[in-house]
Amino acid sequence: MTETSWTRKDLLALEDLSKEEIELILKTAESFKEVSAREVKKVPALRGKSIANLFFEASTRTRTSFEVAAKRLSADTINFSSSGSSTSKGESLSDTAKNIEAMQVDTIVMRHSSSGSAEYLSKVVKAGVINAGDGIHEHPTQGLLDIFTIKEKKKNITGLKVCLIGDILHSRVARSNIWGLTKLGAKVTVCGPPTLIPRGIEKLGVSVEYDVDKAIKDQDVLNILRIQLERQAGAFFPSIREYAAEYGISVDRMKKAKSDVIIMHPGPINRGVELAAEVADGANSVILEQVTNGIAVRMAVLFLTTMVER
Ligand code: CP
Repeated sequence: MTETSWTRKDLLALEDLSKEEIELILKTAESFKEVSAREVKKVPALRGKSIANLFFEASTRTRTSFEVAAKRLSADTINFSSSGSSTSKGESLSDTAKNIEAMQVDTIVMRHSSSGSAEYLSKVVKAGVINAGDGIHEHPTQGLLDIFTIKEKKKNITGLKVCLIGDILHSRVARSNIWGLTKLGAKVTVCGPPTLIPRGIEKLGVSVEYDVDKAIKDQDVLNILRIQLERQAGAFFPSIREYAAEYGISVDRMKKAKSDVIIMHPGPINRGVELAAEVADGANSVILEQVTNGIAVRMAVLFLTTMVER
């Protein structure tokens, strides 16, 4: 597949993409990564195009990463947040988005607390829609940047053992990782308290392990997920202290993992809960490389989707 055969104006979910489409995004991201290492960190690929960031939920990494990515492609960027926009006065999502589109915006990057909101928006606007996280559904660019980082470190995804640990039930990052990694042939295990593992998740092609000490043995990648207290995850286990003892990745627990295992986390980290500070900052951690790679991956996604004829 080549850039010219890409046909999607939207990126809503990794569930929707073929293996070839995922590989094209990763290949395009590889070529854009070098731009951020230049003294002048800019290419004219999206000059004259406008990208709007529409964030209805808190974000540090994703919002700034999309803004940096758009600017490195020479696009104009517009930032909306729910607190400063007319949605706080009762305006519907559709009206807000149509008003933004009326300003000749080419692509809307949206984060929203409702699962399915990005797909809904893609049907009511002609502009492209990039899902920056919709409820507990998907966070496709996080999944892609995780896969990009794994590929960079481990070269081949096929046959690689990847374990997602933590709150799988509420995690859009887990769902995007599962769809993307299984399409590329990785062997994915999910691990967490039984209350935070969705029933029937094996149908997505993953294995389930409730004992973290067993789960982390022989894995090539441990992707540690945040305990999402804002989505009532705290009600699903007795206490934060117990969660940290049973599932937290501590220095001691790391001794059971392979010496070359890579430690990933989408951020923001609850240090001392799902991940010990020494492990987050340790030699196996690629957490900040994930953030760096996020820019290249989002440049690729913005470029491919924004250049599609509407
Ligand atoms: N990984 C991630 O989505 O982080 P933010 O919530 O800071 O955007």
